[in-house]
Amino acid sequence: MAKRTIVALPGDGIGAVVLKQAVRVLDAAGFDAEYVYGDIGWDFWCSEGNPLPQRTIDLIAKHKIALFGAITSKPKDEAAAELSPELQGKGFTYSSPIVGLRQHFGLDICVRPCRSYKGNPLNFIRRGKDGNPEEPMVDVVIFRQNTEGLYGGVEWSNPPQQVYDALMTHPKFRDNFGWCPKEELAVSTRIFTRKYTERIVRAAFQHAAKYGYKSVTVCEKPNVIRETSGLMWKIAKEMQKSEFPSIQLWNTNIDAQMMWLTKNPEDYGVIVAGNMFGDIVSDAFAGLIGGLGFACSAQFSEDGIGVFEPTHGSAPKYAGYEVSIVNPVAMIESACMMLDYIDEKDTAARIRKAIAEVIEDGAVKTYDMMKLTGKQEVIAMGAASTIKMTDAIIAHLK
Ligand code: NAI
Ligand code: MG
Repeated sequence: MAKRTIVALPGDGIGAVVLKQAVRVLDAAGFDAEYVYGDIGWDFWCSEGNPLPQRTIDLIAKHKIALFGAITSKPKDEAAAELSPELQGKGFTYSSPIVGLRQHFGLDICVRPCRSYKGNPLNFIRRGKDGNPEEPMVDVVIFRQNTEGLYGGVEWSNPPQQVYDALMTHPKFRDNFGWCPKEELAVSTRIFTRKYTERIVRAAFQHAAKYGYKSVTVCEKPNVIRETSGLMWKIAKEMQKSEFPSIQLWNTNIDAQMMWLTKNPEDYGVIVAGNMFGDIVSDAFAGLIGGLGFACSAQFSEDGIGVFEPTHGSAPKYAGYEVSIVNPVAMIESACMMLDYIDEKDTAARIRKAIAEVIEDGAVKTYDMMKLTGKQEVIAMGAASTIKMTDAIIAHLK
């Protein structure tokens, strides 16, 4: 296979720390790649007024596959204050480079697998019928629509007159909100398009078919949010019937799903949801398999661009540690998702097996797996450093 070029985006804080470890694992597993490093994050905001420089966008457009650590994001006012003095007052406004990436490349499909590792002390445990504790193995993959819905950014405080007038044509708005002065209204829209709803639902079914999951669950609220959730549910029903008759289609409401989550998480397979509910349900399932140290994700666009990243952020409080303590597994798992995507499935499987062995063996654990509060002293308390944890994974590679 031809040597791959991967765009590596370390970003800020622990993003850069864990990315480096993921590349070590990829190298040790024999993945033949060249890494070109792209600038993204806080430093570039401060020094250039742009946390996502055009040269980085060009790199990703050219090579199509990016491994991303994490970035630091701050509110607009703080961002403006940290801009370098010569750029201040020149009209630069901060916006998140993650949202920027998503919008620029149309990364509409977000995939977040949540799979328990046997022996992980952070696994969810419940009491079984006989009163004894039991540890259900979770193997859920969440497909989250990543560009539309409540996070689409179409919103107003004190909406323009035309918007207000249009809203007033809806009887429910007129009857229930017509009393409110326009200046006191805040409106955030939830827009779903058939095209992108179909894309996320199809991606979910295709994944279920390819990897042998028995069900796809639409996790929305179609009985109340009839138009948008209703559209996703309707599309899923049509698609199941015409294209995926052998896969069961389930329907859960997001609120009920949050309750059932801890009752029978092992019953779910692939879950598909809109932007916000997908964000919620994926964080909730991640909590059952070990939290941020284990939560990985991938984002894809229509034209095949893939960005692979842990769900966690830059954890600035741990960024300056001389010996890094954070768990590299979420980042390494994200790299495995990348390998799956570019058809290096055997390499991905070998790395996942090595992670599984280290966790089941239990001798090497990062501080989160020991349920310690993160501080530099955890190393003296027996926690593995980020590098030690990576070393252990590499040692188990076969
Ligand atoms: P965070 O995910 O960076 O950290 C929250 C806490 O989770 C940490 O203090 C730590 O206790 C734990 N944690 C995170 N990653 C871990 C790991 N690999 N191993 C062990 N424990 C881990 O979220 P926070 O503190 O809300 O945000 C920090 C910065 O990151 C902010 O500037 C935020 O905007 C940004 N952020 C960036 C994201 C991204 O780049 N995708 C996502 C989330 C936040
Ligand atoms: Mg989230």
